[in-house]
Amino acid sequence: MTAVLPQPRPALETERAATPRRYLMCRPEHFDVSYAINPWMDVTRGADRELAIRQWETLRQTYLDLGHQVEVITPVPGLPDMVFAANGGLVIEGRALGARFTHAERRAEGPAYLAWLADAGLKEVFAPVHVNEGEGDFLVVGDLVLAGTGFRTDPGAHTEVQELFGIPVISLRLVDPRFYHLDTALAVLDERTVAYYPAAFSPGSRGVLQRLFPDAVLADEADAVVLGLNAVSDGKHVVLPYAATGLAAQLEERGYVPVGVDLSELLKAGGSVKCCTLEIRA
Ligand code: ARG
Repeated sequence: MTAVLPQPRPALETERAATPRRYLMCRPEHFDVSYAINPWMDVTRGADRELAIRQWETLRQTYLDLGHQVEVITPVPGLPDMVFAANGGLVIEGRALGARFTHAERRAEGPAYLAWLADAGLKEVFAPVHVNEGEGDFLVVGDLVLAGTGFRTDPGAHTEVQELFGIPVISLRLVDPRFYHLDTALAVLDERTVAYYPAAFSPGSRGVLQRLFPDAVLADEADAVVLGLNAVSDGKHVVLPYAATGLAAQLEERGYVPVGVDLSELLKAGGSVKCCTLEIRA
């Protein structure tokens, strides 16, 4: 029997083209490292909230300078990780699925983000059934959704997303606890191209990525451990942690324009550029 798989997506040869995006962000006004739910978080080290806010403002300004629209959600006291807006939901073609968090510490973020989405002028907003951490584990690549599991998002949510949006969902298993969300191990560069760190995935999932994206940018461990793959691309400009210099050079070779930002304070909670950014797709 011949396996039926989506066709490989060779990288575009043409000039990189940026398209304006609509992003949701959350100012880290209540940011802290007061619990540890991933290996990056060390409660004894704490966090400098003022510095986190300054670094976050730089990211916001970077998006505005690139011509993107940035909206903000009101931060809720007692939710130090709410700055990681990517986890707040998944929005495709003006339809949104809310998030349902794995850990009790973040659970109240689900309804807070859902309320924002319900008020954002979208066509439809759905409350989640299965545990899913939004765009932390769901990444849209053209007409596919890549979906992570292994640490946070339940595979049941992968089916939920496929049924809800009618878009093929490709399940990928994460195996390294440092890369606990898909968006820490894989970056979407444009509608056909991704960058990823192969060792973060199970052998089978690595095989799937090779078949689907034979021309992917492969990141090494040095770039992965500074969360270099936690990047946001508009098709041309790739905003990424400044410390991911090897990855930035590879992107430049492929015709992208890397834009490095310093989010070192947010890295103490295990997050960076993409984690701070939820795309609201019309
Ligand atoms: N401290 C947060 C957590 O462990 C960080 C979330 C990062 N977000 C992301 N999209 N990877 O849940």
